[in-house]
Amino acid sequence: HDVVDLIRTKRDGGTLTTSQIDWMIDAYTRGYVEDAQMAAMAMAILLNGMGRPEIRDLTLAMIASGETMSFEGLGKTTVDKHSTGGVGDKITLPLMPLVASFGVAVPQLSGRGLGHTGGTLDKLESIPGWRASLSNEEMFQQLRDVGGVICAAGSGLAPADKKLYALRDITGTVEAIPLIASSIMSKKIAEGTAALVLDVKFGSGAFMQDIAKSRELAQTMVDLGNDAGVRTSALLTDMHRPLGLAIGNANEVRESVEVLAGGGPADVVELTLALASEMLALAGQPDADVAGALASGQAMDSWRAVIRAQGGDPDAALPVARETHTVLAQSSGVLLEQLALPFGIAAWRLGAGRARAEDPVQHAAGIDLHAKAGDTVVAGQPLFTLSADEPSRFERALEALDGAYAIGDPAEYVARGPLVAERIA
Ligand code: URA
Repeated sequence: HDVVDLIRTKRDGGTLTTSQIDWMIDAYTRGYVEDAQMAAMAMAILLNGMGRPEIRDLTLAMIASGETMSFEGLGKTTVDKHSTGGVGDKITLPLMPLVASFGVAVPQLSGRGLGHTGGTLDKLESIPGWRASLSNEEMFQQLRDVGGVICAAGSGLAPADKKLYALRDITGTVEAIPLIASSIMSKKIAEGTAALVLDVKFGSGAFMQDIAKSRELAQTMVDLGNDAGVRTSALLTDMHRPLGLAIGNANEVRESVEVLAGGGPADVVELTLALASEMLALAGQPDADVAGALASGQAMDSWRAVIRAQGGDPDAALPVARETHTVLAQSSGVLLEQLALPFGIAAWRLGAGRARAEDPVQHAAGIDLHAKAGDTVVAGQPLFTLSADEPSRFERALEALDGAYAIGDPAEYVARGPLVAERIA
């Protein structure tokens, strides 16, 4: 094959064959197809789309570029969750031990944050001693012993995707449904989970702001999973406003532990329970009493075991920032709005996120909300607190929050629809 011909085919709205896609991904992984050529292809795909057979072929070719894992022989059914990313989205933290406490294995291969959405590994690394890197043997042993594991994905899974995703990131070609769906699903299918629940976000703080687009992304991924033998379903969930009250790393761990203790913000609890029920249904336990497992401490016991198994001390104090800055309500009324994206960007600027993949994060940096949209507030009461190690960061964080929230008359308040808007199977 000639890669320039393939680029021209896609540029002109044509369809790529299985053999062309297999060849192209293999040649790209080996460095024979150059980054410039793959970037042109990614842009052609973004502009002209791909049919379902092409998306399936692309996914399978990316899986074939690396190693695959298998959890057969574990003696437990496996179920994983993937979220397309949001602000204050710490759901994996309470969800993994909750589901594992029902005897199901939850291999949660996670990533680090880049941009305004945080990464699960960054959050957990605020726990003293906790370690994200495990060998495959350690991961299997932990799934056998305690049922849950959250660790860094090995570099051997879908290396073609790693290369292509980094290229898309710097060429304006991330936002294409065929590319997002094949990227996420190649890694999840290569991981070897038996079942998978996708939390596909929509709303102003999400990748796909529009619910119709997020529905299309969800359906594409659900079909890819089921066609590859992974029982897959998706929930479309609202990411217009931050989830919970904590946005950052250590503070998100704190909030997750509150949920595991039977408390925590209502929206975090609701989404945790919805995803847990969905995961357990795919694992053959449709009637599992997930709320009961939070109330009884069953999920908390599981959390403590999982954290200990990875070297963490579940009782250790979490880091606290050196500096804080609290913003007060300027007037009395109802908190009309709280936009996820600017709050995510502000937390990022405080040091909770990173600009380049190799940068460290500051675990204690972030934002704690004291009121949620819809709450009644009085002038002078604290609305939210910024935390950072360097006070010089507050100004740029506050700039990001300009216009991100408003207080007004109760009659002006527009309630959002349900947090879990739709289920796609
Ligand atoms: N996450 C991924 O892993 N890939 C994408 O393309 C987008 C989000």
